[in-house]
Amino acid sequence: MAVPVQYRISGGGAEAIAASVEEGIAAGALAPGAALPAIRELAQQLGVNPNTVAAAYRLLRDRGAVESAGRRGTRVRDRPATTPRSLRGLAVPPGVRDLSTGNPNPALLPAISVAPGPVVLYGDPPITPALAELAAAELAADGVPADHLAATSGALDGIERVLAAHLRPGDRVAVEDPGWPNLIDLLAALGLVPEPVGVDDDGPLPADLARALGRGVRAVVVTSRAQNPTGAAVSADRADDLRALLDGSDVLLIEDDHCAAIAGVPLHTLAGVSRHWAFIRSAAKAYGPDLRLAVLAGDQRTVERVAGRLRLGPGWVSHLLQNLTVGLWRDPAVARQVADAESAYGAARAGLCAALAARDVVAHGRSGLNVWVPVPDEAVAMTALFAAGWAAAPGARFRIRCAPGLRVTIAELAPADIDPLADAVAAAVRGPGRSSV
Ligand SMILES: Cc1ncc(COP(=O)(O)O)c(C=O)c1O
Repeated sequence: MAVPVQYRISGGGAEAIAASVEEGIAAGALAPGAALPAIRELAQQLGVNPNTVAAAYRLLRDRGAVESAGRRGTRVRDRPATTPRSLRGLAVPPGVRDLSTGNPNPALLPAISVAPGPVVLYGDPPITPALAELAAAELAADGVPADHLAATSGALDGIERVLAAHLRPGDRVAVEDPGWPNLIDLLAALGLVPEPVGVDDDGPLPADLARALGRGVRAVVVTSRAQNPTGAAVSADRADDLRALLDGSDVLLIEDDHCAAIAGVPLHTLAGVSRHWAFIRSAAKAYGPDLRLAVLAGDQRTVERVAGRLRLGPGWVSHLLQNLTVGLWRDPAVARQVADAESAYGAARAGLCAALAARDVVAHGRSGLNVWVPVPDEAVAMTALFAAGWAAAPGARFRIRCAPGLRVTIAELAPADIDPLADAVAAAVRGPGRSSV
């Protein structure tokens, strides 16, 4: 719900007005969802032409700070880039178990220590031969053509670079709905327009993708498995259907394999079906989010553009990180630990889904770290869960058009947690005033 603006916006030109709004957002004075004054009203207040305010609002929209809310005017985005982290997370009361984060379980991550490596100087190859060789073998074994590779600072960095290499502000991008909020926010910050594609347990819905293609999307982002928030994983049949839609097209296809090694399901990739594509595999979930490394495979032009742009910025991803990742990938003891983590996540996911099914509650969680529970009303369900001692992530952050739900991160659930949590979720889904069976 939009709230009236108290903060006093200042400035005499579009840039200054936009900067003043950004300051208000950064200070927390303009909260997520806050309505900005109508263009004419602010123009009058500042003594400027309405076109100047309209230009300021356009700048803010292009930077992903605000969005148009149709006839309700312009409002601060739910998570604009300038909102401080402290205002972005969920305020979880003391004593409440926080299942809202999406993080892996720290206890299931391998210990990491950095061994001294060879000296690396400007001019060395951006991706180490050892990482390139290992990644190429792993990706090829999964059916991903790996003739061209780059290393990026995680999956989202790779996605951003691929989008920037091919698209321009105003272009439409098909994204899963519900989908990962950071991606939706990134599109806004790049001036790209999300085109929602519904998801079921087998991945993006072909009919929705066909509609999005018909609406002229220039790119499609698909989460191969461990879809966030629903846990969907692209099945073999769904991959065939999606490939048929994308075959030979000019649409840029980006596949996000952020949960590789702990997803709990095999990969069915779409890579290579369209002329321009990128497949990005992150090390973050299996080895730890601080391991800011992903390998990116793609068609030659896409990979060259990504590597070229990287060269003009940070240059490359530190070989320290690349060597560390190769060391982890090759270590049989680490491989056992990662396999154990994958089993533990699978057991928690399946356990919670089964316990909810036994209570007649629909839940989704085929792969990854999260379970998605459709609810009639997120605020009511969140309040009930809090009262029972649990916090989940409200679905509003993940949704564009789809129906409400809650995301429960299962990473730290112990077997003894499952029944009490399922009881609490079942009661929360049913809402007040009804029996919880
Ligand atoms: C769908 C999706 N992609 C990517 C990531 C993050 O990957 P990285 O840390 O490699 O950027 C996440 C993290 O939760 C995610 O949910």
